Amino acid sequence: MNTKVQLENMNVHFGANHAVKSVNLDFPANSVTAIIGPSGCGKSTLLRAVNRMHDLVPTARVSGRILLDGTDVYARGVDPVAIRRKIGMVFQKPNPFPAMSIHDNVVAGYKLNNSLKRGEAEEIVETSLRRVALWDEVKDRLKSSAMDLSGGQQQRLCIARTVAVQPEVILMDEPCSALDPIATLKIEELVEELKERYTIIIVTHNMQQAARVSDATAFMYMGEMVESGPTKKIFTTPEMKQTEDYITGRFG
Ligand SMILES: Nc1ncnc2c1ncn2[C@@H]1O[C@H](COP(=O)(O)OP(=O)(O)OP(=O)(O)O)[C@@H](O)[C@H]1O
Ligand SMILES: [Mg+2]
Repeated sequence: MNTKVQLENMNVHFGANHAVKSVNLDFPANSVTAIIGPSGCGKSTLLRAVNRMHDLVPTARVSGRILLDGTDVYARGVDPVAIRRKIGMVFQKPNPFPAMSIHDNVVAGYKLNNSLKRGEAEEIVETSLRRVALWDEVKDRLKSSAMDLSGGQQQRLCIARTVAVQPEVILMDEPCSALDPIATLKIEELVEELKERYTIIIVTHNMQQAARVSDATAFMYMGEMVESGPTKKIFTTPEMKQTEDYITGRFG
């Protein structure tokens, strides 16, 4: 299997707080990896290191290596903006741009990086919305505000906005935690489809969701990567007692 993203002895500090400790982990291409673990264990911090979101936090320090197709995303001369174009991110709460239409939301990220030729926007909007299974629901009201959409639709719109930039990796930080079970199911189905084109890393608190959508699962505890492996194995015969305790609900 092709490795898309590789963490090598990766650490994140916030001042004196050692939030992610010496993590080694491979993310295979065109697969879904779930990151699980109790609140505060460092899941979001690990995820945000991958596309250099911590560059914006003065106290944050990332060390070790994070490789995208074998190239260190933190190497000297690498443009963080180019990295975020290749490694897109979807957040916990749907965050469409409130003053923009559905149409303009989809192309917003794309327009930051490219100039649009005539007719190109329409094509990008349709392709991206189809890819997130939202096209049929919104095609007759592309000019209306993104805020008119339901929470689940807004989250799919945000995924469309990410997809429109043509990333290679998509990071998702609890993308369903603000959604009802039906909208959650739609996002899960979507994740399954998206992995044909993208490498997906998803943080979730929902064990059933991790078991349903992911190929591999990584369990973190207090900043450390306790155990990772095929999802089926992690959920049926984990090696570590901490993993077993967590997945069976004994703590966390
Ligand atoms: N911007 C920041 N500045 C300082 N400390 C931070 C920052 N972001 C996270 N931390 C610290 O890093 C540690 C890990 O936090 P993180 O948000 O990664 O946990 P998490 O596993 O995502 O938790 P949750 O499940 O609650 O989202 C915590 O001790 C947190 O206080
Ligand atoms: Mg988090």
